[in-house]
Amino acid sequence: MRILSKVAEVRAARLEFPSVGLVPTMGFLHSGHLSLVKAARAANAGVIASLFVNPTQFGPNEDFNRYPRARERDLAMLESERCDLVFAPDVAEMYPEGFDTRIEIGGVTEGLEGAVRPGHFTGVATVVAKLFNITTPTRAYFGQKDAQQVAVVRKLIQDLNLPVELVVCPTIREADGLALSSRNAYLAEDERRSAVVLWRALTAAKTLYDSGERSAQALRTAMKAALDAWGACPDYLGVSDPQSFCDLDEIGPTGAVVSLAVRIGTTRLIDNIVLPTP
Ligand code: PAJ
Repeated sequence: MRILSKVAEVRAARLEFPSVGLVPTMGFLHSGHLSLVKAARAANAGVIASLFVNPTQFGPNEDFNRYPRARERDLAMLESERCDLVFAPDVAEMYPEGFDTRIEIGGVTEGLEGAVRPGHFTGVATVVAKLFNITTPTRAYFGQKDAQQVAVVRKLIQDLNLPVELVVCPTIREADGLALSSRNAYLAEDERRSAVVLWRALTAAKTLYDSGERSAQALRTAMKAALDAWGACPDYLGVSDPQSFCDLDEIGPTGAVVSLAVRIGTTRLIDNIVLPTP
């Protein structure tokens, strides 16, 4: 496995592979990230993972500086998944002096995470476009865990005619339902126990949907009740169209993404499920 930090080195190394699967990450890897690497390994001649904590997708009062980092452990994990190439640039390589371009996407970025984290998806879209241009992947692997990010990347690929196939992989969870996340590392023991509330709320919404309920408000009320039982307060409770991420009043034949963001202590966690379950 080669570990490269320069754009020019990656461009040269990439040419050896007739097809490439790219897995963009911010590091501090867990089994969720590794499931993307496994999927990429199974379908491509070469696998490239990127490790880059992207400053432009963090707001001024967010956790960029304290975002967990474990480079050596990440590299060992990627090597054991038979990753071919790791792109781990520093900030100056990605954003050199004078960098002044942003990719701003409309509609899908407006609600939910986009509303609570202004500029977040512009940072994501810009860095993902750069990673695509640097590695020219055949396929790019993203997790359903970040459902709105998937919708944003889908729109980026579509609107800019990027020659990349988007592959979306299912959310990997702990035994109690908590979605794996690098940010789970922030949770103290009691907070870790409370964090199951996100899954409880999503399960409550799914149970109601499975019983025939199609009103978004009814699903939100059920989620709110599940959160209240644990004294947790959400940033948002979303029932959205899976493509446009517009708010739904009623869930129709195209289904819905049910999502939420909750603060557990000082840690902000997000999760979602797709209805009907695929
Ligand atoms: P990061 O949070 O490191 O996540 C990298 C990829 O792993 C994303 O596609 C994310 O959806 C996926 N992932 C995270 N937790 C997962 C889980 N429990 N199950 C399955 N997949 C999971 O998302 C980012 O980084 C950044 O925004 C990035 C796309 C790299 C741009 O900077």
